[in-house]
Amino acid sequence: MSDQWIPPSQQRRRIDFEALGVRPGRYVLPDVTNFIVTENGSREGAERLHDYLDGKTDLASLQPAEIDFVRQHFLDAAAEQLQKCIAHFESKVPRRYASARPNAIATAWAKSVVTSPESTRSLLVVGPTGTGKTHYAYSVLRAVAETGSRNGWASYTAADLYAQLRPRTGRDSEATFETIAGTDVLFVDDLGAAKLTEWTEEVTYRLINHRYEQCKPGIFTSNVPPTQLRDALGERIASRLTEMCERITLKGDDRRKGMAA
Ligand SMILES: Nc1ncnc2c1ncn2[C@@H]1O[C@H](COP(=O)(O)OP(=O)(O)OP(=O)(O)O)[C@@H](O)[C@H]1O
Ligand SMILES: [Mg+2]
Repeated sequence: MSDQWIPPSQQRRRIDFEALGVRPGRYVLPDVTNFIVTENGSREGAERLHDYLDGKTDLASLQPAEIDFVRQHFLDAAAEQLQKCIAHFESKVPRRYASARPNAIATAWAKSVVTSPESTRSLLVVGPTGTGKTHYAYSVLRAVAETGSRNGWASYTAADLYAQLRPRTGRDSEATFETIAGTDVLFVDDLGAAKLTEWTEEVTYRLINHRYEQCKPGIFTSNVPPTQLRDALGERIASRLTEMCERITLKGDDRRKGMAA
């Protein structure tokens, strides 16, 4: 747990999540009056808790009952946050991919995204039509949700992305671009599915380049064979994707054919 990312505000407060056995996160601090009211805690204990929560002392200065109070508060907060993340995921995942469950690679990737987003390479999931790329990508997003972290995620098919970003009167497409480009974990499905126009190539380039420059992790899928990626997406996009992504190749037959049988 020691490699977990700890929010700066909590670092200042020296909340020792590892010693408490709690997943680090951005949680509301406990209300110390509850310690006195509900736990029969002493006033001196409350003072000690205040000092600890203000970052003036460390965990060793607290009595066992005070440590239990802090631990229980953060355990409850972590459990609540995890539940919210999963509920949010369940409400957003397309029904068809709701059963997708992460494998060990997806789970490890999600953990890495939480602990060190800048050094986590994005995933480029490739393979022919129907081999399960979108399914795989949603399993990875589920793994991100299951970390219980507050990392935001968003998913778009490339086609939907272009529809969202197309300039339209009365809509600030630049603001939309910035929101999408700034998402903690961005999933873009079906890159290169349609022939790029000058405009779609420019938008794709700006988006990929933004993610590339900011070292933000994401998941991309494409059924363009890797050797044809340059032709399909253009040199600048393909080159960046190659550097920033770990490639996952799905093989096999079109699963949809098997289902139709
Ligand atoms: N590992 C899996 N276990 C069970 N079902 C799966 C799995 N992978 C994919 N499927 C199912 O197979 C079908 C095709 O999967 P998916 O839509 O992910 O393919 P795809 O590679 O994204 O296809 P396309 O290139 O057309 O976008 C879906 O119904 C999906 O739910
Ligand atoms: Mg797909």
